Amino acid sequence: MKVFITGASSGIGAAITAEYTKRYGNKHITLGLVARRSGHLQQLKTTLEKFPQITCSIYPLDVRDQAALASAAEQFIQQHGVPDVVIACAGVSRGTLTEHQEDIAAFQAVMDINVMGLVHTFQPFISAMRAIGHGQLVGIASVAGIRGLPGAGAYSASKAAAISYLESLRVEMAVSNIAVTTIAPGYIRTPMTDVNTYKMPFLMDANVAASKFVRAIEQKRRFVVIPWQMGWVARLMRFIPPFLWDFALKKAPYKPRLNWDWL
Ligand SMILES: NC(=O)c1ccc[n+]([C@@H]2O[C@H](COP(=O)([O-])OP(=O)(O)OC[C@H]3O[C@@H](n4cnc5c(N)ncnc54)[C@H](OP(=O)(O)O)[C@@H]3O)[C@@H](O)[C@H]2O)c1
Repeated sequence: MKVFITGASSGIGAAITAEYTKRYGNKHITLGLVARRSGHLQQLKTTLEKFPQITCSIYPLDVRDQAALASAAEQFIQQHGVPDVVIACAGVSRGTLTEHQEDIAAFQAVMDINVMGLVHTFQPFISAMRAIGHGQLVGIASVAGIRGLPGAGAYSASKAAAISYLESLRVEMAVSNIAVTTIAPGYIRTPMTDVNTYKMPFLMDANVAASKFVRAIEQKRRFVVIPWQMGWVARLMRFIPPFLWDFALKKAPYKPRLNWDWL
């Protein structure tokens, strides 16, 4: 089993990595791990390679850097072969408000990381997967992409774009026997949600979520919301008319506009 995953240094990406090693670790598993924090990746590699059946290559890079991802993909393929699964999990979320001029840079960064990051991650693997006649591309979207959440315009827009992009890709890839899976998580307990001060319905532990994500990947689900309770919320969100949406969200809490040092 060969898995290439971005956003592996924290939260959902780290939990998915751990889940794969748990599921496949008694056979042999090769992991390609991407994130910006090289220290976190190095630590993960050291821990994982204590197990002889795990091979791990790390690629400290920013998913906005298309050339860096292309080079990481080429290195992975040369060293280990074409991955069975490529998971684009890297993402950021911050509160944004259009009226603040200083938030424009945040809008740009969120779109670049959460949308272009997916394209940069998948693009260098497609021809190699086509050549061997199979493969799977997985994108981590969000329930926040189903309707616009106030205070999170950049994040909601980026995840709406991710959902549509992944749907286009899924149809395009079907003729080449490359599966595309969109996972739209609800609230998962990670550093991303730790900053939220409001109540998060159906909040799920990252390790529990990761086992459900990997099961959905193995089943080659096209689109899945996890946890399932959020799946029903998502269905409702899709269908309620705009006036009811506005009324329901009038008093919704906003994601904090914090920490701009990540840009
Ligand atoms: N937690 C939730 O409730 C929830 C719900 C719906 C969707 N999601 C989505 O799930 C994904 C993972 O989120 P999380 O909750 O696990 O958050 P997290 O703990 O903050 O992890 C985010 C990961 O993305 C990486 N990353 C961020 N920007 C990057 C960049 N420019 N280049 C490379 N890597 C980058 C981070 O690594 P470095 O900082 O080391 O680069 C980290 O590994 C995101 O796409 C998020 O939108 C999360």
